[in-house]
Amino acid sequence: MTQLIALQTDITQLPADIIVNAANCSLLGGGGVDGAIHRAAGPQLLQACRTLGGCRTGEAKITPGFNLPAKFIIHTPGPVWHGGTRKEPELLACCYTNALELALKYRGKTVAFPCISTGVYGFPHGLAAQTALSAVRQFLLAHPNAFEKIYFACFLETDLTIYQKLLQEPLC
Ligand code: APR
Repeated sequence: MTQLIALQTDITQLPADIIVNAANCSLLGGGGVDGAIHRAAGPQLLQACRTLGGCRTGEAKITPGFNLPAKFIIHTPGPVWHGGTRKEPELLACCYTNALELALKYRGKTVAFPCISTGVYGFPHGLAAQTALSAVRQFLLAHPNAFEKIYFACFLETDLTIYQKLLQEPLC
């Protein structure tokens, strides 16, 4: 049974097999967690990303982790929040589903997600966490033993509180 764990941490420090990057469609780095991952992984990451040809919102691409403790990094551009009028929750759910598909293919046993789209992209934190958990649980229904642990690596204490509350709620 896959364990879902919320913790407050810098995702670049997590020794998970795979960490997920809240990227932008260019995959050429940026601020926030994207910037932190590129800084920690080193310049080889940008070189690898340059060969990927970008990535569409909601899709996911994988690179080695380079100088990170993680073996791989899965890059997925989340949606920019436009008030919920442009299928943002559906696109955010695709980030989690497509990242887990790739993680499964690369046989990662522990996977860590940041709170995708909740920073620069302005996605409401509560709805993002609900969307993330729903997408992950949906994936696990079809692949119950795919992973040992899935981490929700919250940088902000407010996000940790949201995830902890949602994880304690009984599944309907
Ligand atoms: N570890 C874990 N989480 C982090 C870290 C870190 N080192 N740094 C920031 N975060 C958190 C933020 O607090 C936020 O909760 O990551 C979440 C996502 O915020 P952003 O990094 O701003 O990502 P996002 O909202 O998806 O916007 C993506 O921002 O950095 C650029 O290149 C990126 O253009 C893209 C856009």
